[in-house]
This record gives sequence, C-alpha cells and structure tokens, in this order.
Amino acid sequence: MNIINNIRQLRSWTSINRGTRCVFVPTMGALHEGHAALIRAARELAGQSGNVIVSIFVNPTQFGPGEDFSKYPRTLIEDLGLCRDNGADAIFAPKAEDLYLADRSIQLFETSLSKTLCGTSRPGHFDGVCTIVAKLFNLVQPDDAVFGKKDYQQLAIIRRLVRDLDFNVVIHGIDTVREADGLAMSSRNRYLTEEERAQAPVLRAALLKAREAYVKGGERDGKALQRLVLDQIAAGAPAGRVDYVEVVDASTLQTPTETTELVLIAVAVFFGSARLIDNIELK
Ligand code: PAJ
Repeated sequence: MNIINNIRQLRSWTSINRGTRCVFVPTMGALHEGHAALIRAARELAGQSGNVIVSIFVNPTQFGPGEDFSKYPRTLIEDLGLCRDNGADAIFAPKAEDLYLADRSIQLFETSLSKTLCGTSRPGHFDGVCTIVAKLFNLVQPDDAVFGKKDYQQLAIIRRLVRDLDFNVVIHGIDTVREADGLAMSSRNRYLTEEERAQAPVLRAALLKAREAYVKGGERDGKALQRLVLDQIAAGAPAGRVDYVEVVDASTLQTPTETTELVLIAVAVFFGSARLIDNIELK
C-alpha cells in the first residue's frame, strides 16, 4: 500500500497509474466499519486491475467556529491498518497547509441543497465540503468515488457538484453500516456517555416505525410521519435534544411533491455535544 503525504507524490502516483481505473474514497480518518464498507465497495468497483485510493484529511473549512475541528479524533496508524485490511492500494494523507495556502481566495458555494437539514444548523459546512471534494477530485482524478448514504445530504450535494461543475466522476452511494442495535456507526459515537449510548439506537427504531407506517400503513402525510418520529424519540431518548426531523424528497431535499419518486426521513439529534444523524428511504 502506497502512503502519499503530499501533492508532489500524489502527482507522480497519478501519472504512473494513468490508464488504470481509479476508485476514490474520501474520508476524514478515525475510520470504522462504515468506512471499511466503502473501501470494500471501492475494491469491488476497481476489480483486481484497478486502484483504490483513500484520502484521510480532517478538512478545516467544513468545521464552523465552536465545532469539533481541533478535537476531531486523529488515529492515523490504526486508519492505515484498516485501509490495508480492506483492500486499499494507496492513501493520500496531506497536511492542511499543503491543501490550503494562507492567501487562498477562491472557494465554492452551494446555494440550494445545503439550505435545509444539517445546513440550517451548520452554515458554510457544505461549502467547505464542496471545496475540499472538488480539490480532491482534481488532485486524485478518479473515475469513480464512493460516499455513504449516512450523510445523505452530503451525497446529494456531491452529485450536484459533479453535475454542475462537469466532473468526470461516477458517484456511488453505499448503505449505512450500523452497530448490532441499529445505531449508525460514526466517529462521533465515542463522545456518548453510557446513558446516551443506550438511548441513541432509538433514532433508528423511530425511523423504522415511520417506514412501516408509510409502506405498510399507507401513511402519506409528512407531518404525521414527522410527529411519529418525534414522539418515538421523546419517549425513548429523553437525553436527546432534537435538532430536526424532516420528511423530504430524496433528490431535492425539499418538501415532497406529486413528482417525488423517493421520500426520505432525515433526523439530527444532539446527545450532549455530539450531534448524531440518521435517515431512511421510504421504500
Ligand atoms: P467522514 O465523516 O470521514 O466520512 C467519510 C465517508 O464515510 C462519507 O462518505 C460518509 O458518508 C461515510 N460513512 C461514515 N459513516 C458511515 C456509516 N456508518 N456507514 C456508511 N458510510 C459511512 O464525510 C466526510 O468524512 C467528509 O465530509 C469528506 C467527504 C471526506 C470531505 O471532507
């Protein structure tokens, strides 16, 4: 496995590997089984002859003031082992000062999909995500890139980024990997107290109940579905503080309309300082 620490080394890796299918998995490290599933999916896509490259970079521009940038877990040694064990060929782990010059003056803004859900309480977050992902796509020049559906809004925004800026990259969305009790795996789960950890699976249980009401019960009223999820969370997770529960069109992230093909319920709940997110497609 190649460990690439700076842009010069990356350029030489991409030029040596030109003509070989390249599948890219962008991450911020602190890798867990969710990331491992993405790397394995990338390995499948690349086949034996292709390359899988994983980036590990805690991107400062997507953290707001007062968010957890400085205390975001950094576990590079363990991360390298997980990448190797799941079939990665190369790791790109640059330093912040390599990617962001002090006098940089150009960045991206997303003006629609980022205005709802997580974007409401994290202004500027998805602009930072778009900027770093665009930079990484330009540097790595992948044929394919793999993202998790756990960050559903991020995936929708990346698809829009690729469409609107004509990146020649195929985006793949991978199902959320969960703990045995249903809690979506996240590097932020480690911040939960024992009591919060015990209550956190209620998010998944509430979403499953709502899906059952939609699929089996025929419930089509967004407000009723939202209420059902809120009630379940209030009853099962008193330590949680709901940021949002929204029923939206899965591609526009707006209120569903007659032309909506797939409905999504997305939730964000604070447990102490940790903000957990989850979602479910209603199908
Ligand atoms: P990070 O939070 O490290 O996530 C990297 C990728 O792993 C994302 O595509 C995310 O959706 C996916 N992922 C996280 N938990 C998952 C789970 N339980 N199941 C399946 N996939 C999961 O998302 C980012 O980093 C950054 O915003 C990034 C795109 C790298 C830009 O900085």
